Amino acid sequence: MKFSKRMDLFGDEVFAALNVKKVELEEKGRKIYNLSIGTPDFETAPHIKQALVDAAADQNNWKYSLRDIPELLAAVCGYYQKRFGVTITPDQVTSCNGSQEGIGHIGLTLCDEGDTVLLPDPCYPVFIAGCKMAGADIYYYPMVKEHGFLPCVAEIPEDVARRAKFMIVSLPANPLGSVGTPEVYEEIVAFAKKYDILIIHDNAYSDIIFDGAVGNSFFNTPGALEVGVEFFSLSKSFNLTGARISFLVGRSDVVAAFRKLRSQIDFGMFLPIQYAAIAALTGPLDMVKEQNRKYQERRDALCGGLREIGWQVPDSRGSMFVWAPLPAGYTDSMAFCMDMVEQAGVLCTPGSSFGPLGEGYVRFALTLPPEKIKEAIASIRDSGMLA
Ligand SMILES: Cc1ncc(COP(=O)(O)O)c(C=O)c1O
Repeated sequence: MKFSKRMDLFGDEVFAALNVKKVELEEKGRKIYNLSIGTPDFETAPHIKQALVDAAADQNNWKYSLRDIPELLAAVCGYYQKRFGVTITPDQVTSCNGSQEGIGHIGLTLCDEGDTVLLPDPCYPVFIAGCKMAGADIYYYPMVKEHGFLPCVAEIPEDVARRAKFMIVSLPANPLGSVGTPEVYEEIVAFAKKYDILIIHDNAYSDIIFDGAVGNSFFNTPGALEVGVEFFSLSKSFNLTGARISFLVGRSDVVAAFRKLRSQIDFGMFLPIQYAAIAALTGPLDMVKEQNRKYQERRDALCGGLREIGWQVPDSRGSMFVWAPLPAGYTDSMAFCMDMVEQAGVLCTPGSSFGPLGEGYVRFALTLPPEKIKEAIASIRDSGMLA
Protein backbone atom coordinates (compact mmCIF):
# COMPACT_ATOMS: atom_id res chain seq x y z
CA MET A 1 0.00 0.00 0.00
CA LYS A 2 1.37 3.39 -0.95
CA PHE A 3 0.07 5.74 1.72
CA SER A 4 -0.46 9.45 1.17
CA LYS A 5 2.47 11.88 1.15
CA ARG A 6 0.72 13.46 4.12
CA MET A 7 1.63 10.43 6.23
CA ASP A 8 5.30 11.17 5.64
CA LEU A 9 4.82 14.40 7.60
CA PHE A 10 4.52 12.49 10.85
CA GLY A 11 7.50 10.88 12.57
CA ASP A 12 7.51 7.75 14.69
CA GLU A 13 5.72 7.70 18.01
CA VAL A 14 8.34 8.98 20.48
CA PHE A 15 6.82 7.27 23.46
CA ALA A 16 6.95 3.83 21.86
CA ALA A 17 10.54 2.97 22.80
CA LEU A 18 10.11 4.25 26.35
CA ASN A 19 6.88 2.33 26.72
CA VAL A 20 8.47 -0.90 25.55
CA LYS A 21 11.17 -0.39 28.20
CA LYS A 22 8.55 0.37 30.88
CA VAL A 23 6.56 -2.81 30.10
CA GLU A 24 9.75 -4.89 30.01
CA LEU A 25 10.79 -3.62 33.46
CA GLU A 26 7.29 -4.10 34.91
CA GLU A 27 7.24 -7.68 33.66
CA LYS A 28 10.44 -8.25 35.61
CA GLY A 29 8.59 -7.00 38.72
CA ARG A 30 10.22 -3.54 38.87
CA LYS A 31 8.15 -0.73 40.39
CA ILE A 32 7.75 2.10 37.88
CA TYR A 33 6.75 5.65 38.80
CA ASN A 34 5.00 6.93 35.72
CA LEU A 35 5.36 10.71 35.52
CA SER A 36 5.23 10.74 31.76
CA ILE A 37 1.70 11.13 30.40
CA GLY A 38 -0.55 14.04 31.41
CA THR A 39 -3.63 12.04 32.36
CA PRO A 40 -5.15 13.32 35.61
CA ASP A 41 -5.65 10.78 38.39
CA PHE A 42 -8.25 12.83 40.28
CA GLU A 43 -11.93 11.84 40.36
CA THR A 44 -14.61 13.29 38.14
CA ALA A 45 -17.21 15.05 40.34
CA PRO A 46 -20.30 12.91 41.11
CA HIS A 47 -22.78 15.49 39.75
CA ILE A 48 -21.05 15.36 36.34
CA LYS A 49 -21.16 11.55 36.20
CA GLN A 50 -24.79 11.54 37.32
CA ALA A 51 -25.84 13.98 34.59
CA LEU A 52 -24.29 11.66 31.99
CA VAL A 53 -25.94 8.56 33.47
CA ASP A 54 -29.36 10.24 33.66
CA ALA A 55 -29.13 11.51 30.10
CA ALA A 56 -27.97 8.13 28.81
CA ALA A 57 -31.13 6.50 30.24
CA ASP A 58 -33.24 8.52 27.79
CA GLN A 59 -33.46 6.87 24.35
CA ASN A 60 -33.85 10.26 22.65
CA ASN A 61 -30.30 11.09 23.68
CA TRP A 62 -28.87 8.22 21.61
CA LYS A 63 -29.67 9.89 18.27
CA TYR A 64 -27.30 11.99 16.19
CA SER A 65 -27.17 15.27 18.06
CA LEU A 66 -26.31 17.34 14.93
CA ARG A 67 -25.71 20.50 16.96
CA ASP A 68 -24.79 21.90 20.34
CA ILE A 69 -28.02 22.18 22.31
CA PRO A 70 -28.90 25.78 23.31
CA GLU A 71 -28.56 24.91 27.03
CA LEU A 72 -24.95 23.88 26.41
CA LEU A 73 -24.07 27.08 24.57
CA ALA A 74 -25.75 29.08 27.34
CA ALA A 75 -23.76 27.11 29.94
CA VAL A 76 -20.46 28.00 28.25
CA CYS A 77 -21.45 31.69 28.06
CA GLY A 78 -22.55 31.60 31.72
CA TYR A 79 -19.28 29.99 32.73
CA TYR A 80 -17.16 32.59 30.91
CA GLN A 81 -19.09 35.31 32.74
CA LYS A 82 -18.88 33.65 36.14
CA ARG A 83 -15.31 32.33 35.97
CA PHE A 84 -13.55 34.95 33.85
CA GLY A 85 -15.91 37.95 33.88
CA VAL A 86 -16.00 37.78 30.06
CA THR A 87 -19.21 38.30 28.09
CA ILE A 88 -19.65 36.05 25.05
CA THR A 89 -22.75 35.08 23.09
CA PRO A 90 -23.84 31.64 21.77
CA ASP A 91 -22.73 32.49 18.20
CA GLN A 92 -19.22 32.77 19.65
CA VAL A 93 -19.16 29.14 20.86
CA THR A 94 -18.95 25.75 19.16
CA SER A 95 -18.00 22.36 20.57
CA CYS A 96 -15.28 19.98 19.47
CA ASN A 97 -14.23 16.51 20.56
CA GLY A 98 -11.50 17.79 22.82
CA SER A 99 -9.02 20.56 22.04
CA GLN A 100 -6.80 17.89 20.50
CA GLU A 101 -9.30 17.33 17.71
CA GLY A 102 -10.15 21.01 17.45
CA ILE A 103 -6.56 22.16 17.16
CA GLY A 104 -5.85 19.29 14.79
CA HIS A 105 -8.53 20.57 12.41
CA ILE A 106 -8.64 24.36 12.77
CA GLY A 107 -5.75 24.89 10.35
CA LEU A 108 -7.93 23.40 7.60
CA THR A 109 -10.37 26.26 8.16
CA LEU A 110 -7.79 29.00 8.13
CA CYS A 111 -4.90 28.04 5.88
CA ASP A 112 -4.10 27.43 2.27
CA GLU A 113 -1.03 25.46 1.24
CA GLY A 114 2.10 27.47 2.03
CA ASP A 115 0.48 30.00 4.39
CA THR A 116 2.74 30.95 7.28
CA VAL A 117 1.70 30.14 10.83
CA LEU A 118 3.47 30.87 14.11
CA LEU A 119 3.93 28.10 16.66
CA PRO A 120 5.81 27.97 19.96
CA ASP A 121 8.94 25.86 20.26
CA PRO A 122 8.75 23.74 22.36
CA CYS A 123 5.02 23.08 22.14
CA TYR A 124 2.23 20.58 22.58
CA PRO A 125 2.63 18.30 19.54
CA VAL A 126 -0.85 18.63 17.98
CA PHE A 127 -0.09 22.28 17.19
CA ILE A 128 2.50 21.01 14.72
CA ALA A 129 0.47 18.06 13.42
CA GLY A 130 -2.61 20.21 12.69
CA CYS A 131 -0.60 22.86 10.84
CA LYS A 132 1.23 20.23 8.81
CA MET A 133 -2.05 18.61 7.79
CA ALA A 134 -3.25 22.01 6.60
CA GLY A 135 -0.10 22.37 4.48
CA ALA A 136 1.04 25.43 6.40
CA ASP A 137 4.57 26.73 6.49
CA ILE A 138 5.52 26.75 10.17
CA TYR A 139 7.66 29.46 11.79
CA TYR A 140 8.61 28.43 15.33
CA TYR A 141 8.91 31.27 17.80
CA PRO A 142 11.23 30.40 20.71
CA MET A 143 9.94 29.87 24.23
CA VAL A 144 13.26 30.03 26.06
CA LYS A 145 14.59 30.53 29.56
CA GLU A 146 15.89 34.06 28.72
CA HIS A 147 12.26 35.19 28.24
CA GLY A 148 10.83 33.20 31.15
CA PHE A 149 9.60 30.53 28.67
CA LEU A 150 7.05 33.05 27.34
CA PRO A 151 6.34 34.31 23.81
CA CYS A 152 8.39 37.32 22.78
CA VAL A 153 6.62 38.83 19.75
CA ALA A 154 9.23 41.60 19.41
CA GLU A 155 11.70 38.94 18.23
CA ILE A 156 9.51 37.61 15.41
CA PRO A 157 11.01 39.00 12.17
CA GLU A 158 8.89 41.64 10.45
CA ASP A 159 8.67 39.76 7.14
CA VAL A 160 7.46 36.63 8.93
CA ALA A 161 4.87 38.62 10.89
CA ARG A 162 3.60 40.23 7.65
CA ARG A 163 2.95 36.84 6.04
CA ALA A 164 1.60 35.05 9.13
CA LYS A 165 -2.02 33.94 9.12
CA PHE A 166 -2.35 32.79 12.72
CA MET A 167 -0.32 32.30 15.86
CA ILE A 168 -0.95 29.63 18.48
CA VAL A 169 -0.34 30.71 22.06
CA SER A 170 -0.86 28.40 25.01
CA LEU A 171 -0.36 29.45 28.63
CA PRO A 172 -0.09 27.97 31.26
CA ALA A 173 2.23 26.08 28.95
CA ASN A 174 2.61 22.39 28.35
CA PRO A 175 5.45 21.30 28.61
CA LEU A 176 7.06 24.43 30.07
CA GLY A 177 4.98 25.24 33.15
CA SER A 178 5.22 28.99 32.39
CA VAL A 179 2.18 31.22 32.87
CA GLY A 180 1.00 34.33 31.02
CA THR A 181 1.15 37.86 32.36
CA PRO A 182 -1.15 40.75 31.36
CA GLU A 183 1.85 42.45 29.69
CA VAL A 184 2.67 39.43 27.52
CA TYR A 185 -0.94 39.14 26.40
CA GLU A 186 -1.17 42.88 25.70
CA GLU A 187 1.93 42.63 23.49
CA ILE A 188 0.41 39.66 21.66
CA VAL A 189 -2.88 41.49 21.01
CA ALA A 190 -1.04 44.59 19.76
CA PHE A 191 1.12 42.39 17.49
CA ALA A 192 -1.98 40.60 16.16
CA LYS A 193 -3.65 43.92 15.36
CA LYS A 194 -0.57 45.40 13.72
CA TYR A 195 -0.02 42.45 11.38
CA ASP A 196 -3.62 41.20 11.06
CA ILE A 197 -2.83 37.82 12.60
CA LEU A 198 -5.45 35.61 14.24
CA ILE A 199 -4.45 34.43 17.72
CA ILE A 200 -5.52 30.92 18.68
CA HIS A 201 -5.20 30.61 22.44
CA ASP A 202 -5.17 27.06 23.78
CA ASN A 203 -6.44 27.40 27.35
CA ALA A 204 -6.17 23.88 28.75
CA TYR A 205 -4.75 24.76 32.18
CA SER A 206 -6.49 27.90 33.43
CA ASP A 207 -7.40 26.04 36.63
CA ILE A 208 -3.95 24.60 37.35
CA ILE A 209 -1.87 27.59 38.36
CA PHE A 210 0.30 28.08 41.42
CA ASP A 211 1.46 30.49 44.10
CA GLY A 212 -1.74 32.53 44.10
CA ALA A 213 -1.69 33.43 40.38
CA VAL A 214 -5.08 33.55 38.67
CA GLY A 215 -5.73 31.56 35.50
CA ASN A 216 -7.55 33.79 33.05
CA SER A 217 -9.07 33.59 29.62
CA PHE A 218 -7.28 35.20 26.65
CA PHE A 219 -10.36 37.44 26.45
CA ASN A 220 -9.46 39.12 29.72
CA THR A 221 -6.99 41.12 27.63
CA PRO A 222 -8.53 44.28 26.12
CA GLY A 223 -9.07 43.86 22.37
CA ALA A 224 -8.51 40.08 22.42
CA LEU A 225 -12.04 39.25 21.24
CA GLU A 226 -11.35 41.17 18.01
CA VAL A 227 -8.22 39.19 17.18
CA GLY A 228 -8.68 35.78 18.65
CA VAL A 229 -10.33 32.53 19.49
CA GLU A 230 -9.71 30.26 22.45
CA PHE A 231 -9.86 26.50 22.84
CA PHE A 232 -11.52 25.95 26.19
CA SER A 233 -11.17 22.34 27.33
CA LEU A 234 -12.97 20.79 30.29
CA SER A 235 -10.54 17.83 30.32
CA LYS A 236 -8.12 18.88 33.01
CA SER A 237 -10.24 21.24 35.14
CA PHE A 238 -12.97 18.63 35.57
CA ASN A 239 -11.02 15.35 35.11
CA LEU A 240 -12.97 14.10 32.15
CA THR A 241 -10.25 13.59 29.58
CA GLY A 242 -11.97 10.52 28.12
CA ALA A 243 -15.28 12.32 27.52
CA ARG A 244 -13.67 14.69 24.96
CA ILE A 245 -15.30 18.01 25.82
CA SER A 246 -13.91 21.28 24.53
CA PHE A 247 -15.13 24.43 22.85
CA LEU A 248 -13.85 26.96 20.40
CA VAL A 249 -14.82 30.35 21.79
CA GLY A 250 -14.41 33.85 20.43
CA ARG A 251 -14.58 35.61 17.07
CA SER A 252 -17.88 34.58 15.54
CA ASP A 253 -16.61 34.48 11.92
CA VAL A 254 -13.90 32.00 12.88
CA VAL A 255 -16.29 29.99 15.06
CA ALA A 256 -18.84 29.79 12.20
CA ALA A 257 -16.19 28.68 9.68
CA PHE A 258 -14.88 26.06 12.08
CA ARG A 259 -18.40 24.78 12.77
CA LYS A 260 -18.98 24.53 9.01
CA LEU A 261 -15.78 22.54 8.52
CA ARG A 262 -16.60 20.16 11.37
CA SER A 263 -20.17 19.66 10.13
CA GLN A 264 -18.67 18.05 7.01
CA ILE A 265 -17.04 15.30 9.06
CA ASP A 266 -18.89 15.02 12.38
CA PHE A 267 -22.50 14.77 13.59
CA GLY A 268 -21.98 16.51 16.91
CA MET A 269 -21.22 15.67 20.50
CA PHE A 270 -23.06 12.68 22.05
CA LEU A 271 -26.03 14.22 23.90
CA PRO A 272 -25.33 12.60 27.31
CA ILE A 273 -21.87 14.17 27.09
CA GLN A 274 -23.44 17.55 26.34
CA TYR A 275 -25.52 17.15 29.54
CA ALA A 276 -22.41 16.16 31.51
CA ALA A 277 -20.68 19.32 30.19
CA ILE A 278 -23.65 21.46 31.30
CA ALA A 279 -23.42 19.91 34.79
CA ALA A 280 -19.69 20.67 34.96
CA LEU A 281 -20.08 24.26 33.76
CA THR A 282 -23.06 25.17 35.92
CA GLY A 283 -22.13 23.16 39.03
CA PRO A 284 -19.97 24.05 42.04
CA LEU A 285 -16.29 24.81 41.42
CA ASP A 286 -14.91 24.07 44.89
CA MET A 287 -13.50 20.71 43.76
CA VAL A 288 -11.61 22.48 40.97
CA LYS A 289 -9.97 24.82 43.49
CA GLU A 290 -9.19 21.99 45.91
CA GLN A 291 -7.58 20.02 43.11
CA ASN A 292 -5.41 23.00 42.18
CA ARG A 293 -4.16 23.07 45.78
CA LYS A 294 -3.26 19.38 45.49
CA TYR A 295 -1.39 19.96 42.22
CA GLN A 296 0.62 22.64 43.97
CA GLU A 297 1.50 20.18 46.77
CA ARG A 298 2.72 17.77 44.10
CA ARG A 299 4.69 20.56 42.40
CA ASP A 300 6.32 21.38 45.76
CA ALA A 301 7.09 17.71 46.42
CA LEU A 302 8.62 17.23 42.97
CA CYS A 303 10.56 20.45 42.37
CA GLY A 304 11.57 20.92 46.01
CA GLY A 305 12.45 17.23 46.36
CA LEU A 306 14.59 17.17 43.23
CA ARG A 307 16.45 20.28 44.37
CA GLU A 308 17.12 18.62 47.73
CA ILE A 309 18.88 15.75 45.99
CA GLY A 310 20.98 18.14 43.94
CA TRP A 311 18.98 18.49 40.70
CA GLN A 312 18.31 22.21 40.15
CA VAL A 313 14.73 22.13 38.83
CA PRO A 314 12.87 25.46 39.00
CA ASP A 315 9.30 25.54 40.30
CA SER A 316 6.62 25.11 37.70
CA ARG A 317 4.22 28.11 37.75
CA GLY A 318 1.21 26.36 36.24
CA SER A 319 -0.10 23.45 34.09
CA MET A 320 0.29 19.89 35.35
CA PHE A 321 3.93 19.72 34.22
CA VAL A 322 7.45 20.44 35.42
CA TRP A 323 10.16 21.34 32.92
CA ALA A 324 13.51 20.13 34.17
CA PRO A 325 16.92 20.92 32.62
CA LEU A 326 18.99 17.74 32.20
CA PRO A 327 21.34 17.13 35.11
CA ALA A 328 25.09 17.66 34.57
CA GLY A 329 26.68 15.05 32.36
CA TYR A 330 23.63 14.54 30.13
CA THR A 331 22.85 16.22 26.80
CA ASP A 332 20.39 13.82 25.12
CA SER A 333 16.91 13.88 26.70
CA MET A 334 15.80 10.56 25.20
CA ALA A 335 18.95 8.79 26.44
CA PHE A 336 18.45 10.36 29.87
CA CYS A 337 14.81 9.15 30.07
CA MET A 338 15.91 5.63 29.14
CA ASP A 339 18.62 5.70 31.82
CA MET A 340 16.25 7.07 34.45
CA VAL A 341 13.58 4.44 33.88
CA GLU A 342 16.17 1.68 33.87
CA GLN A 343 18.18 2.86 36.87
CA ALA A 344 15.54 4.54 39.04
CA GLY A 345 12.23 3.20 37.70
CA VAL A 346 11.04 6.80 37.06
CA LEU A 347 9.45 7.54 33.72
CA CYS A 348 9.26 11.06 32.26
CA THR A 349 9.12 12.50 28.74
CA PRO A 350 12.12 13.65 26.67
CA GLY A 351 12.02 17.37 25.95
CA SER A 352 13.05 16.72 22.35
CA SER A 353 9.56 15.32 21.66
CA PHE A 354 8.15 18.86 22.00
CA GLY A 355 10.38 20.50 19.38
CA PRO A 356 14.07 21.25 18.79
CA LEU A 357 14.32 23.76 21.66
CA GLY A 358 13.01 21.07 24.01
CA GLU A 359 16.30 19.18 23.77
CA GLY A 360 18.28 19.51 26.99
CA TYR A 361 15.12 19.17 29.12
CA VAL A 362 12.67 16.53 30.32
CA ARG A 363 9.02 16.92 31.28
CA PHE A 364 7.50 15.47 34.44
CA ALA A 365 3.70 15.20 34.79
CA LEU A 366 2.23 15.83 38.26
CA THR A 367 0.12 12.70 38.08
CA LEU A 368 1.09 10.96 41.33
CA PRO A 369 0.31 12.00 44.93
CA PRO A 370 3.09 13.66 46.98
CA GLU A 371 4.02 10.47 48.87
CA LYS A 372 4.60 8.58 45.60
CA ILE A 373 6.55 11.53 44.19
CA LYS A 374 8.77 11.40 47.27
CA GLU A 375 9.35 7.68 46.71
CA ALA A 376 10.26 8.38 43.08
CA ILE A 377 12.76 11.04 44.17
CA ALA A 378 14.30 8.69 46.72
CA SER A 379 14.66 6.14 43.95
CA ILE A 380 16.46 8.68 41.71
CA ARG A 381 18.76 9.58 44.62
CA ASP A 382 19.50 5.94 45.47
CA SER A 383 20.23 5.07 41.84
CA GLY A 384 23.30 7.32 42.03
CA MET A 385 22.59 8.68 38.55
CA LEU A 386 22.87 12.31 39.67
CA ALA A 387 26.29 11.78 41.21
C1 LIG B 1 -1.73 22.30 25.88
C2 LIG B 1 -2.75 21.25 25.64
N1 LIG B 1 -3.71 21.47 24.74
C3 LIG B 1 -4.67 20.56 24.48
C4 LIG B 1 -4.67 19.33 25.12
C5 LIG B 1 -5.73 18.34 24.77
O1 LIG B 1 -6.88 18.61 25.50
P1 LIG B 1 -8.22 17.83 25.20
O2 LIG B 1 -8.33 16.73 26.22
O3 LIG B 1 -9.29 18.87 25.34
O4 LIG B 1 -8.15 17.29 23.82
C6 LIG B 1 -3.69 19.04 26.07
C7 LIG B 1 -3.67 17.75 26.74
O5 LIG B 1 -2.74 17.36 27.43
C8 LIG B 1 -2.70 20.03 26.33
O6 LIG B 1 -1.72 19.82 27.21
